[in-house]
Amino acid sequence: MTDEMIIRQPDDWHLHLRDGDMLAAVLPDTARHFARAIIMPNLVPPVVTALDIAAYRDRIMAALPRGSGFTPLMTAYLTEDSDADDLAAGFADGLITAVKLYPAGATTNSASGVRSIARVMPVLEVMASIGMPLCIHGEVTSPEVDIFDREKVFIETVLDPLRRDLPELKVIMEHITTADAAAYVSAASGNLAASITTHHLMINRNHILAGGIRPHFYCLPVAKREEHRLALRKAATSGDSRYFLGTDSAPHPDHAKLQACGCAGIYTAPNTMSCLAHVFDEDNALDQLEAFTSVNGANFYGLPLNKGQLKLTRIQTPCRYLEAITAGQETVTVFDPGVDLHWHVEPLE
Ligand code: NCD
Ligand code: ZN
Ligand code: ZN
Repeated sequence: MTDEMIIRQPDDWHLHLRDGDMLAAVLPDTARHFARAIIMPNLVPPVVTALDIAAYRDRIMAALPRGSGFTPLMTAYLTEDSDADDLAAGFADGLITAVKLYPAGATTNSASGVRSIARVMPVLEVMASIGMPLCIHGEVTSPEVDIFDREKVFIETVLDPLRRDLPELKVIMEHITTADAAAYVSAASGNLAASITTHHLMINRNHILAGGIRPHFYCLPVAKREEHRLALRKAATSGDSRYFLGTDSAPHPDHAKLQACGCAGIYTAPNTMSCLAHVFDEDNALDQLEAFTSVNGANFYGLPLNKGQLKLTRIQTPCRYLEAITAGQETVTVFDPGVDLHWHVEPLE
């Protein structure tokens, strides 16, 4: 039995930091363990231009704990009016790492997103030609499509046609939640990878809906049946280089989650690495943890691997994480994995 492991410092390839008091409150929880993270641009208003992105990056750097080596990797929110030259220049400067596509209306703050792929095709063509990656929230939004089918239908009706039209485009299917998505990614010949969240490896839809409704487990894409969770576990723990961690840690104030129409998002940053060690341990795949958290994503994005290290130690007494954090006047509930966590995580100096 492994009781101690040292892994390369991880990266989070899908993270929401928000802004203002919330940014200040949540950033230390990610910076404690992670070297870099892809920062989602769905602020209100969205982070669209290179100018917006530079200003947001400055606010993140200003909010970092003293001495932190954390690097935010910035993304641009793709709108039907996005300027390809502006994005390409930001990419060339190293300011912008990727572009994010939200189908309009699919998720939190996606109203300014894309209604028709045809209208952003000129931008996507430029991105393909310069190797700039596209991160996609992969769900259709049509009211006729059942919410549990929206990812599968997106693959068939949007993603696959797009990849056939533009095979050179580097695409990350974000936060996949279905066996269908894993099968699609595993069968793809190149330029396609997927991020997987911590919570989708630990919960299925019963956790949200059986025996009472649990708003803190509600996120988008919504967790699916158990068979899908098991397919995600298999993909994440396989060592396959096309799968990597994107926590989608998405803090919302508790009052916004706990209301008649509560918003989507789970705050997992504080205990995510401990949860992942638990998951990989349970599947006898601790030897694949580093590939998933610290290697595959960087390789897909074409970025250097981190030099720092993280030490994971199995301890007898369960690790203690706060149930909630405070952000300004608000509280934000931390993901409850429903099991005791015995993997203690600390950076190695
Ligand atoms: C995210 C958020 O709150 O910004 N919510 C979520 O449920 N995942 C948006 C997103 O990643 O879709
Ligand atoms: Zn999303
Ligand atoms: Zn997200």
